[in-house]
Amino acid sequence: MTRQTLVLLVCSVFLLGLSNSEYYSVDTFGGNGFSKGLRFGFYAATCPKVETIVRESFTSNIFRDPTAAGALIRLAFHDCQVGGCDASILLSSSDSITSELVSDRNFGIRRLDFIDSIKSSLEASCPGVVSCADIIALAARDSIRISGGPNIPILLGRRDSTSASNLAADRSIPLPTISVDDTISLFQSKGMTLQETVAILGAHTVGVGHCVSVLDRLYPTQDPNLLPPRSAQLRAQCPPTPPQLLNNNTFFANDFTNVFFDNQYFRDILNGQGLFGIDSKIALDKRTSRIVSMFATNQAYFFAVFSSAFNKMLASNVLTGSSGEIRRDCKVVNS
Ligand code: HEM
Ligand SMILES: *[C@@H]1O[C@H](CO)[C@@H](O)[C@H](O)[C@H]1NC(C)=O
Repeated sequence: MTRQTLVLLVCSVFLLGLSNSEYYSVDTFGGNGFSKGLRFGFYAATCPKVETIVRESFTSNIFRDPTAAGALIRLAFHDCQVGGCDASILLSSSDSITSELVSDRNFGIRRLDFIDSIKSSLEASCPGVVSCADIIALAARDSIRISGGPNIPILLGRRDSTSASNLAADRSIPLPTISVDDTISLFQSKGMTLQETVAILGAHTVGVGHCVSVLDRLYPTQDPNLLPPRSAQLRAQCPPTPPQLLNNNTFFANDFTNVFFDNQYFRDILNGQGLFGIDSKIALDKRTSRIVSMFATNQAYFFAVFSSAFNKMLASNVLTGSSGEIRRDCKVVNS
């Protein structure tokens, strides 16, 4: 599809999303030991309107580029994978830091300007109080809600790192070719159950992917679980060229309704329409396929399990208490 039709489609969907979103209010994050010093209402005394300020800034920006929702949900995952959910991904290169964005694993990360814009609004109301790491978490939460997904209560209290590592990004952000075994251990290390692991991958219900992420499923031989019409679409648009020569402007919808946060992703992967290797694999593996089928038919249950998984992801190796700092500018360490 063209950028124009995408933006039009997305705009109408977001209007719908706004009116729908309040129906899905879930609170499933119990005291299971994975909150790691984070809590609800962390800024109640220091910046009581934090969630409203974030939402207002986010909402005014999202109409400029509705596709930012997918980008910001992925941003949270990629931040949490490197060191922990500490906003290390936002640090620009300097004498002592190489930005994590130079890592190929962060290909496609965009719309960091949304984070900067939210940060300025917060600095105006509560200077030096709200961390960039919490802003990433809240922006991802708002992206899910505005796309029609669950309205997820988020634990807050993260602090920001004073360092970043592009090499750690190379090591820790998974490739789309990851196995089901490695995916299970990755999310198990964050305290997720098997159901939560399948649910968190359901984030691929929104957003896009590029040829570089699907070439392995096309050449030298086509993945037998990649079926028409998806297979024909990908073959037609992604030629068997080395990654350096790929046209990175070509992108594909992650699922057939990629502007909605819904359970279409699970029906698509059961039908050979998954975009990335791992999407296709969880629909086939005996351990995960039953859960995929359940989410494919029960969206409310998917939303509930996703909500608890999301808070566990956002609690990965967080800095709390007096560790780290509250960055004044998300792109640079405080001097
Ligand atoms: C095994 C774990 C995962 C793998 C291997 C994986 C892989 C990928 C890849 C290859 C892309 C496309 C990059 C591109 O070509 O532009 C992508 C996009 C995306 N991923 Fe994942 N992912 C994983 C888990 C997650 C999780 C846990 C989340 C969030 C909770 C997430 C959210 C997204 C979103 C929203 C997009 C679309 C981004 C956009 O529209 O710009 N992914 N993922
Ligand atoms: C496309 O993106 C990949 C992955 O980051 C990169 O290796 C490649 O050089 C890019 N291709 C072009 C033509 O810029």
